[in-house]
Amino acid sequence: MCGIFAYLNYLTPKSRLEVLDLLVTGLKRLEYRGYDSTGVAIDSPDSKNIVMVKRTGKVKVLEDAILEHFSGGEYSEPVMTHIGIAHTRWATHGVPCERNSHPHRSDEGNGFVVVHNGIITNYNDVKTFLAKRGYEFESDTDTEVFAKLVHHLWKTHPTYSFRELVEQAILQVEGAFAIAVKSKHFPGECVASRRSSPLLVGIKTKTRLATDHIPILYGKDDKKLTSDQDPDSGKPQVLPRSDSTSEFMPLEEKEVEYFFASDASAVIEHTNRVIYLEDDDVAAVRDGTLSIHRLKKSLDDPHAREITTLKMEIQQIMKGNYDYFMQKEIFEQPDSVVNTMRGRVRFDGNAIVLGGIKDYIPEIKRCRRLMLIGCGTSYHSAVATRQLLEELTELPVMVELASDFLDRNTPIFRDDVCFFISQSGETADTLMALRYCKQRGALIVGITNTVGSSICRESHCGVHINAGPEIGVASTKAYTSQFISLVMFALVMSEDRLSLQQRRLEILQALSNLADQIREVLKLDSKVQELAKDLYQHKSLLIMGRGYNFATCLEGALKVKELTYMHSEGIMAGELKHGPLALVDGSMPVLMIVLRDPVYVKCMNALQQVTSRKGCPVIICEEGDEETKAFSSRHLEIPRTVDCLQGILTVIPMQLLSYHIAVLRGCDVDCPRNLAKSVTVE
Ligand code: F6R
Repeated sequence: MCGIFAYLNYLTPKSRLEVLDLLVTGLKRLEYRGYDSTGVAIDSPDSKNIVMVKRTGKVKVLEDAILEHFSGGEYSEPVMTHIGIAHTRWATHGVPCERNSHPHRSDEGNGFVVVHNGIITNYNDVKTFLAKRGYEFESDTDTEVFAKLVHHLWKTHPTYSFRELVEQAILQVEGAFAIAVKSKHFPGECVASRRSSPLLVGIKTKTRLATDHIPILYGKDDKKLTSDQDPDSGKPQVLPRSDSTSEFMPLEEKEVEYFFASDASAVIEHTNRVIYLEDDDVAAVRDGTLSIHRLKKSLDDPHAREITTLKMEIQQIMKGNYDYFMQKEIFEQPDSVVNTMRGRVRFDGNAIVLGGIKDYIPEIKRCRRLMLIGCGTSYHSAVATRQLLEELTELPVMVELASDFLDRNTPIFRDDVCFFISQSGETADTLMALRYCKQRGALIVGITNTVGSSICRESHCGVHINAGPEIGVASTKAYTSQFISLVMFALVMSEDRLSLQQRRLEILQALSNLADQIREVLKLDSKVQELAKDLYQHKSLLIMGRGYNFATCLEGALKVKELTYMHSEGIMAGELKHGPLALVDGSMPVLMIVLRDPVYVKCMNALQQVTSRKGCPVIICEEGDEETKAFSSRHLEIPRTVDCLQGILTVIPMQLLSYHIAVLRGCDVDCPRNLAKSVTVE
């Protein structure tokens, strides 16, 4: 939804220009999270003030502005310790403009500056509270109240430390946030916190760290402070206060650099040692020492946060020889599907082990029903695999859009097993649905691509899809890996069913050929590009299919819509005669998926219904299927595979088609308008 990045160098000399370069590079890695406006804050050359630069538009615009703004020699002087914060925005409150860009400030003197990802839902109440105390607001954002609240607390509680001020402010706000705060009153210090929005701390030291854990400091019982009076009623306002114990061993290093970021891709080029913060953790760096605080300790709280080593490689977050991340990610699919199966599928022994859920399989087998819940592309992976899950688990399988599921207050029971599918693992709708089901006692299984994400951490068990970082905003390789993960789950569930062994073998055999077949499909690229030239000036594209390929129609249409801004609809071919056929004539672009599977005859009926209304569809069919090809002069032939995996091979031409149409229409492929990679608002 937004990307936040902060960099603190302690006893590690860096010029402000170097710091700015680091901040801008960090923002570029996070740009997929939002790209309508950006901003940075660093210390002024005399270190007495904070300077901010903000711009509407992408990080490149900010980068150019920084070059212009900070050209003076004083910015090239090295500083021993410094903290810079940066932000790339996806607007929720207030249009994209410089006034609404982050960092937001507490006062004209830039006493406290804040970058924020998420939504402060009670910002109107906090705003009213602060307005009564003389604060004037200069933006339309929810974030600004946070900066001003910290300032108010600083004025009313002058003895508080920076960390305590932020802690108190956090207690007053509701909603979702990841924040990083910088202050001219507390030079060289940074405080960051999160609730329902991701945030991690990267740590870079010259020598290997002496510890793998940062102990958590818990506050003593809240003291109620009554020093703040309501200006109208004169009644005391209650603000809780935490007092952390002093018996702790925080991370103390002589020379150290800290990176606070929404996502690991922004820190991996500096360090692979990170701490994933949990909800309501407050991470504070003071005198180069990192400590993590929590206001209250509950029974199951751990004593420390673990420093984890990222497995990610730098190349994974670079474009390499490709023009766009999306293009690279489409072409990575022969490898990403293998990575999803690596260490899990033994083709020689026909065995599958999903380590993350194996202990829960007996419980899952006893369940009343399976529920697959997700949004957008992740939801489509559930649609794609539902039929196979029904067949191999012999359980009722419900497929739900997370937002709709919550709107309906869907009944959930203790013996339900709920799968939450999410590339980012942070999508607010999916996360809310997860918490809803967890409260009702269901078993929660997470299917995600992001280690350490909220969905990962809040699930009872799960499957990490191992597709590697997906940076293009439109999801591609995560879809095929989610698909394979659910297929593997279906195979695990049917392991001991004698009557299903032949079917399982057929699927396993097809899985072993999948990477090569994807390579074959990718060879269609230039043909798809030619097709895109025929289609890119049209207003609409209808994509039709049924059975195992209906999900490809939905996913293909979503890709076309989000990347090319063209209207596109995925139509269940069986529904054609119930209305959508009215759209078909000689000029409406239509794409139909007609493969040799149990619904082939029905698809052929649909094809005839289209051609008899002068429609001339592009057909996706099986290699050498002359009978089907005869219905149109334009076709894309894909290799034959088992019915339940066809959806993987048919979605790739759709990914390529949307990509090429977007390029031809001059759209920004990696950062399409109005779309964010990680939708952390409901
Ligand atoms: C489409 C797309 C979105 C996401 C959706 C869910 O290309 O990227 O539709 O699939 O926002 O996101 P995750 O999977 O991160 O929960």
